[in-house]
Amino acid sequence: MAETITIIDDRTGKKITVPVKDGVFASSALRELDPNLRMYDPAFLSTAACASSITYLDGEAGILRYRGYPIEQLAEKSTFLEVAYLLLKGELPTTQELEAWNFEVTHHTMIHENMRKRFVDGFHYDAHPMGMFISAIAALGTFYDDSKNIFDEEVLNKQIRRLVAKVPTIAAMTYRFSSGLPFVLPNNSMSYAQNFLNMMYRIGDDYTVHPALARAMDVLFILHADHEQNCGTTAMRVVASSHADPYSATAAAAAALSGPLHGGANEAVIHMLTEIGDVKNVSAFVEQVKKGDDRLMGFGHRVYKNFDPRATILKKTAYEVFEVTGKNPLLDIALKLEEVALNDEYFISRKLYPNVDFYSGLIYQALGFPVEMFTVLFAIPRTVGWLAHMSELLKDKEQKISRPRQSYTGVGERNYVEMKKR
Ligand code: ACO
Repeated sequence: MAETITIIDDRTGKKITVPVKDGVFASSALRELDPNLRMYDPAFLSTAACASSITYLDGEAGILRYRGYPIEQLAEKSTFLEVAYLLLKGELPTTQELEAWNFEVTHHTMIHENMRKRFVDGFHYDAHPMGMFISAIAALGTFYDDSKNIFDEEVLNKQIRRLVAKVPTIAAMTYRFSSGLPFVLPNNSMSYAQNFLNMMYRIGDDYTVHPALARAMDVLFILHADHEQNCGTTAMRVVASSHADPYSATAAAAAALSGPLHGGANEAVIHMLTEIGDVKNVSAFVEQVKKGDDRLMGFGHRVYKNFDPRATILKKTAYEVFEVTGKNPLLDIALKLEEVALNDEYFISRKLYPNVDFYSGLIYQALGFPVEMFTVLFAIPRTVGWLAHMSELLKDKEQKISRPRQSYTGVGERNYVEMKKR
């Protein structure tokens, strides 16, 4: 079978034949037909905006791989920092490489006192943690003069280490501020997930991180570390394409993540389950969704049209967490909702299945996180994915500043009308 596609411009009779590789053809070839021809693709449904070797996903088959490794194997056998190394550097680390990486990340976890005392203290007492997180990431960049030298690989890698190391500290800080609790300094002897939980929950000496809960946190971090060209990563790439520093670009990506159709969905799931309130109300709620009056949050995905492999892993993790914390009372409603939806023609025909957010919220809640923190919890590991994409983008000779075209639908030229004549 020919691996080409032939496009004919019926207006002129001109024809081009373009190679197709892995289901992708270079649409720039269309310029040969007509330099003013544009492809109209709102929300990028049919557009590959870059070539990437970081994450592979096949939505029909429910496959997700980081650098070729199946997500199921990484969730079972790896740690978040090892996965971070893999995503950022392309290969699994050796023992020495992992030790050095863990050491470097662990020793960059502190943030400048001014961030805490002057910056975070300036927020209103009920500021949303995600708003604080986004702003704090952007503010952090102002502490590092060198962060603008993005084409100096050593300098860029230093910012990456700083960001990966400091996002849990910033995340915990937003929570402690919201709760009126004193900040807890990072503890360098703990693992990434343990240290985060410790900064969240320690009050005096009265807190021990349960190993099963730290492991669940680590698995959640692994599952959320990257997901190729989602909305947040696209924002990261678009902003980084203007050669903004990594802190500004990460803040932009986090802002994109904060929306309820993206990273904010796990928060929306808990609100939805709480509103449903009882298993007996599930069917009525599903009918409301089918009428278009509501949306089943945590269901559906732009790419996964069969199942989300992360949701499958998380359902298992949820039960492991509930063994320690006791069952989240919303679980029964979630299970019933899943059962009803998966057997209903509306959801079957639209290929709507639980996504990663359907169960993550239940786990976060069982771990004691307030719902306002959920998107922040997503942003911590996703920072790694964003930065891996930024590094890749900066080395990609085919990339330029992102600048899509538009199809103008406004009025044609007209003359200014004086106020008294309007
Ligand atoms: N509940 C009810 N109906 C839905 C849902 C849902 N959650 N998702 C999609 N549909 C319906 C749409 O109404 C549409 O129906 P129609 O063909 O009759 O008009 C059809 O399914 C196709 O949906 P689209 O909106 O075109 O799908 P799209 O790929 O644009 O949206 C999205 C994907 C945003 C994730 C959507 O499924 C959604 O809003 N889900 C709920 C929010 C959510 O869980 N987001 C988290 C995604 S995962 C992540 O970001 C980490």
